[in-house]
Amino acid sequence: MSARRISIFDTTLRDGEQSPGIALQPHEKAEIAEQLERLGVDVVEAGFPGASPGDFEGVREVALALGTPTVAALARTRVEDIDAAGEALAGARRSRIHVFIATSPVHMERKLGLEPAEVVRQARSAVEHARTLADEVEFSCEDATRSDPAFVARVCRVAVEAGATVVNLPDTVGYALPHQYAGFLAEVRRRCPELRGVTLSAHCHDDLGLAVANSLAAVLVGATQVECTVNGIGERAGNASLEEIVVALRVRRDHFDVETSVDTAQIAAASRLVSDLTGYAVPRNKAIVGANAFAHEAGIHQDGMLKDERTYQIIEPEQVGVRMTLPLGKHSGRHAFARACTERGLHLTADELNAAFRRFKALADGGGAVAIDDVLQGVTA
Ligand code: KIV
Ligand code: ZN
Repeated sequence: MSARRISIFDTTLRDGEQSPGIALQPHEKAEIAEQLERLGVDVVEAGFPGASPGDFEGVREVALALGTPTVAALARTRVEDIDAAGEALAGARRSRIHVFIATSPVHMERKLGLEPAEVVRQARSAVEHARTLADEVEFSCEDATRSDPAFVARVCRVAVEAGATVVNLPDTVGYALPHQYAGFLAEVRRRCPELRGVTLSAHCHDDLGLAVANSLAAVLVGATQVECTVNGIGERAGNASLEEIVVALRVRRDHFDVETSVDTAQIAAASRLVSDLTGYAVPRNKAIVGANAFAHEAGIHQDGMLKDERTYQIIEPEQVGVRMTLPLGKHSGRHAFARACTERGLHLTADELNAAFRRFKALADGGGAVAIDDVLQGVTA
C-alpha cells in the first residue's frame, strides 16, 4: 500500500510576513513563491489582499507567477475581504480563498463582539460567497484549540455544507500540547463526521516551542494538510517550520508512513532567500537550516564523523542542499586538524603536524573558530 500523502501549505508570504518588521514587495513575494514552487509545496498562501493595496498586488503577482501550486489568499468573513481575495487570485492557475473566523469565547466576546450563532451564520455566508470566486475554499476556526470542540464541530459542519473542501483547526496562540492537539482534532472529527470527506489541516504557532511537534501529532491522527513557513517565521514566536516538518516526516517515515511532494534539496536555497528578503537571520543552531545543523566541532564527534557519518548525523546534508563541515575550534581533535591540512595539499611530517596542532590549540583556547591558514602560517615555511 502506498503512503498517505500530506499536502504542504506554505504560509511564509502571509503568516510569515506578519512577523514584526517584514514588508515584502510584490516582486519579492513572487521571487519567494517561485522558489516555493521549485521546492514543491502544494499550496502557496500569498497574502491577505484585504489588508492593504500592497498585499493585494503581492497576491496578484504570485498568482500570475506560479504554475503548479495552488495559490491561496486569506479573507475574514467580510464580503469586501472575500471580493478582494477573489480579484487578486483571478490570474491563478488554481485558486483558493482561505476564510477564517474566530470560535473561542475570548475572541468571539472580546474581539469580535459576536454571539456564537452570528459566527455560525457568517461562516456559512462567507464560504458560500467565496465558493463563487475561487476554485476551492478553505475554512479556518481561528483560536480553535481554545474553543469548545462541540461548537467548532458545529461551525465546521456548516462550512463543509457551504462548500469548504479544506478545514483548518489552528492552534493560533501556540497553547496546545501535542497529545492535546491530536486529541482535539480527533474529537472535532468525531463530532463532525462531515470532516471525513474534506482535507483536515493543522496550523500551529510556536509560543511554547511546540509548533512542529503539534503539527506532527496532527499528522498521526489523520490531518492531511500541514500549514508551515520557511525558517518558521510568523506571528510572535513563529509558525511551524516547513523544513523541520518535511524532514521529520521523511527521516522518520518508519513512524509516520506518509510522503510529501517537497524536493528537500531545495530547502537550503529557500531558507537563504527568505532570510535575505525578510532580513530575519536564521539562528546558527536552528534545525535543518542553521549554520551549525551539520557542523561538528568536538574532537570525539569529528573522529566519529571521519570514520562513519552515521555516528552523529541522522540526516544526509546533501538531501537538504547543504554540506557537512568540521569546523576547527577549542574542542577539535588531531584527526580533523590533520584532515584539514591534507585538504589544503599540505603533507606535514609528524613533527610539523605536532607543532601546528599545538599552535592551533593555543589559538583555539582564545575562543571562537580558528582559521586554519593562520595556524599554518610559518609551520611549513
Ligand atoms: O493562526 C491562525 O489562526 C491563523 C488563521 C488566520 C488561519 O493564521
Ligand atoms: Zn497563524
